[in-house]
Formats: sequence, structure tokens, C-alpha cells
Amino acid sequence: MGERGHLSTFNQLIEEVNRSLKSVKHVIAVLSGKGGVGKSLISASLSIALSRDGRRVALLDADVHGPSIPWILGIEDRFLGTTVDGKLVPVEVDGIAVVSLELLLEDRSAPIVWRGPLKTKTLIQLVASTLWGERDYLVVDLPPGTGDEALTIAQVLRSKLTGVILVSTPGAMVKHIVEKAKRFADMLGIPLLGVVMNMAYARCPRCGARIEIFGSIEPIEGAEVLGEVPLDPQLAKAVERGELAQYLSSDNEASKRLREIARRVEELVEKGKDSG
Ligand SMILES: Nc1ncnc2c1ncn2[C@@H]1O[C@H](COP(=O)(O)OP(=O)(O)OP(=O)(O)O)[C@@H](O)[C@H]1O
Ligand SMILES: [Mg+2]
Repeated sequence: MGERGHLSTFNQLIEEVNRSLKSVKHVIAVLSGKGGVGKSLISASLSIALSRDGRRVALLDADVHGPSIPWILGIEDRFLGTTVDGKLVPVEVDGIAVVSLELLLEDRSAPIVWRGPLKTKTLIQLVASTLWGERDYLVVDLPPGTGDEALTIAQVLRSKLTGVILVSTPGAMVKHIVEKAKRFADMLGIPLLGVVMNMAYARCPRCGARIEIFGSIEPIEGAEVLGEVPLDPQLAKAVERGELAQYLSSDNEASKRLREIARRVEELVEKGKDSG
């Protein structure tokens, strides 16, 4: 295939993506340069909380190599549906339409050993082939870093991308890396909704004192702090068991913070809409 052939195939795919996202109002991407800071947890809790607020929500797991959304939501054994004309039907759970490449795989213990171009194409096809339906929000859980997956989502979903949420944990080293993710969003002209400071502190189980396990919270210049989420062993347990939804109904401090973050995100998105 010549250069023009490649271009027209790519443009066709973009058109397909736009068609499939026709009835999706806002795409919100959850990004961090750093791994293991809680992107997937924040993506899932944001989706659950928005859905409980009456929003129509979809959640795309864009982490091809390390998908954790199916596990967090307790749907790791489910499969995406397929229609006769080859469309994909999301798995519905907690009122959310969930799509993950993992939910198409027969052998879920096999690693995905792909290079960039194949990942990019598969991600685009996953978005293009899904019957998303009418959604107020499509939350995208990105893998760590600012490579293929983040770039693909940023470019292909450009017209719908309302904003990005950065996830960080305390400490100067993490800040250094998360700032790269901020610059990535700036470079691509994607609005920044703010930063979630996860694992910000823990509570002493005896006296309730605030303990800053990972050090002090370093502000990221130009980014609103959407909320500080404490490290909570109960939350880690809930994630292990695929019981995040139940956890978000609890009175635990982290549960409250996660719900407040979702409300703040909603506020920012609504405000953005008013100011055009
Ligand atoms: N506030 C918290 N309290 C307790 N456990 C937490 C908290 N935030 C995240 N975790 C746990 O930390 C681990 C990493 O979280 P998560 O998978 O969401 O991070 P991630 O940034 O998506 O990682 P990756 O870069 O691999 O995609 C998970 O086991 C999760 O349950
Ligand atoms: Mg993750």
C-alpha cells in the first residue's frame, strides 16, 4: 500500500471512530507519567460516582498490556458482546458500559506482546467497533507514560476530549514524572481538569493522626488539586475483591474523597460547557 493508501485507511478509521462516538458528549482521559499511582482506581471510581449521579457513563480500558479495569470492577470473567455485523457490545456493570481488550480474550493469562503500530490500530478499532450508545461521559484509563496508547487516544478522540485528569502520589520523584504528563497534555492542547493526589496520607489506626508515608505533597504548577485521597487498606482490599462499588457507598475517608473528586470533575466539565 502506498502512502496515500495508508492515509486514507487512517482517515477512514478516524471517521469510524467519530461515527461510533457520535452520541458521547465528553471524553475524560486519566493520565500519569508514573505507573502504579492509582489511575485505574481513579478511572473506575470516577465512573461509578458519575453514574450514581445519574450520568450515562462508559469506561474504556486503554491499558493493553496491564488491563486492571475488569478486575477492579469484578468483571474479569465476562466477555464483550458481539453483533452479527461485527460490532462490540460493552459489559454493563454498576451502570457503566465497560470496554477492555481483555474482555475479548479467551486466554487472560497470556501477555499481549505487540509493538506500537499494532497496539495503536487495535485501540482505534476497539473504539470504532463499539456500540457506545448515548453517554454523557466516556472515561479512558490510560497505561503509565506518554507513549503509544496516550498519544493514540489524544489524537483519535481529539474532538471529544474534554479534559485530562492527572494522577500523582506525594514526593518530588513522582512529581517530576507527572509534570512530563502535564506537558504532554499541554503540547497536544488538551485542557487539564486537575490532579488527583492519591495515597496522599494514611491515618494512624490508633489515634487518627495524619501520616505522610510517601513524603510531602508537591503541588504541580498550573494544576488544580481535585482532591487528596488517603491510603486505605480497606480500599486496597475492595479493589482486590472487585468490590469498589460497595466501598464507594461506605463512609470511609477515601470513599468520601473519591466521591468529592467526581463531583468536582462534573462541576468543571459543566462550567467548561457554559463558557463555550
Ligand atoms: N488510596 C489508595 N489506598 C489503598 N490502595 C490504593 C489506593 N490507590 C491505589 N491503591 C492500590 O494501588 C494499586 C495500584 O493502583 P492502580 O492499579 O489503580 O494504579 P495505576 O496507576 O492504574 O497502575 P498502572 O500504572 O499499572 O496502570 C492497586 O492495587 C490499588 O488497589
Ligand atoms: Mg492502571
